[in-house]
Parts: sequence; structure tokens; C-alpha cells
Amino acid sequence: MSVLSGKKIILGVSGGIAAYKSATLVRLLIKSGAHVQVIMTPASLSFVTPLTLSTLSKNPVHSSFYSDDEMSQWNNHVDMALWADLMIIAPATANTLSKMANGNCDNLLIATYLSAKCPVYFAPAMDLDMYKHPSTLSSFSQLKHFGNIMIPAEKGELASGLVGEGRMAEPEHIVAFLEADLKSKMPLRGKKILITAGPTYETIDPVRFIGNHSSGKMGYDLAIAASKMGAEVVLISGPTHLTVNDSSIELIRVVTAHEMYVQCHKHFIDVDVMIAAAAVADYRPRVVADQKIKKNDEFFSIELEKTKDILFSLGQIKENKYLIGFALETENEVENAKLKIQKKNLDLIVLNSLQDEGAGFGKPTNKVTFIDNNFVVSPMDLKSKEEVAIDILNKVIAHYA
Ligand code: CTP
Repeated sequence: MSVLSGKKIILGVSGGIAAYKSATLVRLLIKSGAHVQVIMTPASLSFVTPLTLSTLSKNPVHSSFYSDDEMSQWNNHVDMALWADLMIIAPATANTLSKMANGNCDNLLIATYLSAKCPVYFAPAMDLDMYKHPSTLSSFSQLKHFGNIMIPAEKGELASGLVGEGRMAEPEHIVAFLEADLKSKMPLRGKKILITAGPTYETIDPVRFIGNHSSGKMGYDLAIAASKMGAEVVLISGPTHLTVNDSSIELIRVVTAHEMYVQCHKHFIDVDVMIAAAAVADYRPRVVADQKIKKNDEFFSIELEKTKDILFSLGQIKENKYLIGFALETENEVENAKLKIQKKNLDLIVLNSLQDEGAGFGKPTNKVTFIDNNFVVSPMDLKSKEEVAIDILNKVIAHYA
């Protein structure tokens, strides 16, 4: 999956011959899973049609502050700018670059640029002498000073017939540049994270098991968020209806606590971080019946034996890995959680209290308290599990900062 997948992108097209390549660029961005909104300068309309770009981007294309139909609709540049995760100006002509550098806000594209808070990339396109002119170079350095990112022009034959530097980077190269730049800024790039999720089922007989109500959502949200932050993830999941489709997440399905234990130990050696979000069964039937148990007796009991505590066992061999556990408590929450930090040799524990409304199994929200190995206690607000996942991963980022 491309890092551009799901990203909201404004593509600004200004008036140079390279505008014809914008069609390919839109197509590639859409293919990589991005949402694209095209804004054109009035001059660019002579080079490529809005119909082409709106068809490819699957969105209306705007080029003025008002829609054409009798100025009936205000195209709000502020809303568009705030919608975007990133903005690309390609082609960026010398004129548009100069306007961006000087805040000369005489069209919708520049107004949107000035309103944008997201990262802005620009891909210059012009003739070789224009590209080298001190005025253009001063625009480049001013824009870089603003924090904008230049996708340098390429060398080759130019529309003038001259050969040199100034051709807009090929659309494939622009997309590769964006992907590489975004990846290089991902806070968990280069980190490998092992995450457990879901319940475990402990077999009683061929048709019955002991399980629990865990949906696995917290672990899956952690895996997805970690992948978005650039980590490579191994997700070891107990039985759940959830799934993931992400090339950075290796999903390993298990059923029992023992299978989870085996898989965790197999992968632990390679990882930097382990987050144990699974609700692992603490006990399993000591003997598993070969055949379905018949209801012959009035009373019936199953002898249970302890499962291996996966997190505890990993804590014994953790070395410098960062180990995060969860604790689900109903009383003396903080004290019990602190004991678990010590017993399991953890760096951080994420405490859930069933006394908190909105916390616990099967809910989309969670209310957690972080306790670190110095026993610093940080209660968090009630949040969605996606937001809690980001908070947890921010602790990992802070650890490696
Ligand atoms: N855990 C584990 N293996 C087990 C049991 C628990 O890896 N066999 C992990 C869980 O994934 C969680 C943490 O240990 O991250 C704490 O789980 P919890 O059920 O709160 O605590 P327990 O250690 O099982 O202790 P108790 O049930 O007595 O509170």
C-alpha cells in the first residue's frame, strides 16, 4: 500500500506547457489511493481542460473564487486548504512561484496556498534560462525558507527546443519523490513492532471452548496506526472477525494462548517494541476431551490449569526492547497495575478500569491511564480506540526521541 493511500491532496496546476502532464499525475495519485482536489490557475486553462482533470480526480475542478454558473457558489479556499493533508503545485511556473513567494494573492490557487497549513511541494517547470534566473532562484530559496519542499526540475528537451534543466519532473518521479519524502518523515520508520490482539479460545472438547468478549479492536487499531507511522508490524491475533490489508502488517492468526505464546517467542527476537493488547486466557482445561462431552450429570466441573503468561515470559528476555502491557482491573487499579509493571518487567502499562464508562470490551472507545516504569501516572480522557492507539504509539516515539 502506498503511503499516499487515503491522503487528501490538493494539486495546484499553473499555466505552463507541462500542465498536460498534470492529467497523468492525477491518475497516478488516484491510483495510489489518494483523494485529489485540483485547483487551476486561469492561465493553466489554456493548456489542459478542467473536464479532463475533474474526470480523472473524480472531483470538481476549481479555477476561480466563484463557480462559473452565474457566480452562484463561493469556492472556499480556506476550507479546501484545511481539508488537505498535502498540497502539490505541479507544474509551478516562474510566475506562480513568484506569487507564492511574495503572497501576491490574485487567484484561487495562491489564496488556497496561503491558507494551507499542510506540507506544500512544488515542481517547477520553465525554460532553462528562466530556471537559472536570480529572480527564480530567489523564489526557490524564499519558498524553501517557508518550509515548502521543491521537487527539482529535470534535464532534457524543453518546449522551446532548447535542451537543459527546467522540465517538470515526470509524474512518476513526483509520486516517487512524495512517497520517499513522506516515508522519511514517518516517526516509527525503521522500527519493528509486535502486537497481540483479541481473545484466545481454550478448547474444552471438539465443539466448546473458554473465551472472552475481546473484539481485538484495540490491537488492530494499534497495528494500523503503527503502520501509518512507518513501522513494520507483526500482528498476532486471536479469533476475531477483524482483518487488515496492509503490506506493512504481517497478520498471524492463532486460537489458543499456547499458539500465541509460540508465535510471540518466534518473532520477539526481531522486534524493537512489543505491545500486548490481547486478552489472553489465564487458564485452560487441563484435559481436552476427544469427544463432545455429554450432559449426563447434574453438576459438572472442568479442571483448569494456568496458561503461560506471554508478557511475563517476554519481560524475562526483553533486553533493550520497549515492552508495553495492558491491565484490566476492577479494584485498586493503579496499585495492581504498578505491581504488574514490576512483575512483568514492563516499560509502560495501559490501564483500563471497568469502573470507567466507555472503557473495556466491545466498545469503540477507551479510557486509559498510562503508568510508566518510574510509576508516573497519566490519566487520559475518554477517546476512540484509534486515538488511544495514537497516544500509545506517541509514548513509543517519545521513548526513541
Ligand atoms: N497477558 C499475557 N499472557 C497471559 C495473560 C496476560 O501476555 N497469559 C498480558 C495481556 O496481554 C496484558 C497483560 O498481560 O497485556 C495483563 O493482563 P491482565 O489480564 O490484566 O493481567 P494478568 O497478568 O492476567 O493478571 P490478573 O488477571 O491476575 O489481573
